[in-house]
Amino acid sequence: MKKSEIISLLLANKKNHLPQKNFVAKTFAPSNIALIKYWGKRNTELNLPMTSSLSISLQNKGCEVELSQQNEKDEIFLNDHFVDLNSEFAIRLLEFVNLFRKPNSWFFTAKIISTVPIGAGLASSACGFAAVVKALDQLLDWQLSLKNLSILARLGSGSASRSLWDGFVEWHAGERDDGMDSFAEPLELSWPEFSLGLLILDARQKQISSRVAMQRTVETSILYRSWPTQVAMDLSVMRQAILDKNFELLGQTAEANALAMHATMLSARPAVNYFLPETIAAMQKIWQCRADGLPVYFTQDAGPNLKLLFLQKHFSDVKEIFPEMVLG
Ligand code: PMV
Repeated sequence: MKKSEIISLLLANKKNHLPQKNFVAKTFAPSNIALIKYWGKRNTELNLPMTSSLSISLQNKGCEVELSQQNEKDEIFLNDHFVDLNSEFAIRLLEFVNLFRKPNSWFFTAKIISTVPIGAGLASSACGFAAVVKALDQLLDWQLSLKNLSILARLGSGSASRSLWDGFVEWHAGERDDGMDSFAEPLELSWPEFSLGLLILDARQKQISSRVAMQRTVETSILYRSWPTQVAMDLSVMRQAILDKNFELLGQTAEANALAMHATMLSARPAVNYFLPETIAAMQKIWQCRADGLPVYFTQDAGPNLKLLFLQKHFSDVKEIFPEMVLG
């Protein structure tokens, strides 16, 4: 099935496919960091994952979008800078918006403010597509449920399906070929003491996109065969750890899951390596902290940066050891 067919299904009874006049849609979506990772697709067109995944949304970081109708041509601004429509960033956004409009039927101005670096493994595309989908919902007055917006955001980037909510969110892999059962849902539980810090070791755009890396891993990595079983086990432990507010179990499981994901990448051919010497050095520092009795764990995505997991009461101890850390 094509993305356009899914969209037609979801918007079947919406009369209005044109923007509301003189209206500026304003939205925000938080960035999310997976504690149990999504790595590998069973359908690359619809971004249907091999496994379910579970994330935590960042409290202070994400993407703000202002979207309005424009008369003659599209215009995109990123962090107050004009974006060339032939750039990789603009092409990805235009391809997505074009799924929702007939050629030349209407044009838009998008003002995007991203408070996370773009393409550095800090979930900028997740919050970006989620904020754009919410903005389209307002501008075109669809009034879709968050569940259906999650399905639409997934078509832009898989992990975007989880950026529609705050807190802990699970994305159900689903089984259907059309992906109508592959959407995210929040876990109804708040844990304000749980903290996440970003350790930005290199904010440059990564050399290999998660899309390419994921596909290469699925196709060539022998270790990938054990990944779905590992995720199923890690997910059930993680759900229980969150429910019981068992921080140690959460930290151990998240860290082991991230390292297992990177192991599948290292065994891809050619290998996918997101580690920098600074990444390894930071991991060793974290393990030393734990040996010294400070409960801090990490997770890592498709980039060299780490995310630190700890409880609020340990913030100043962690900050003393990692002064460059910023709260997520
Ligand atoms: O949604 P994508 O294509 O950017 O992939 C995200 C993959 C990871 O960040 C590595 C894991 C995850 O679950 O977010």
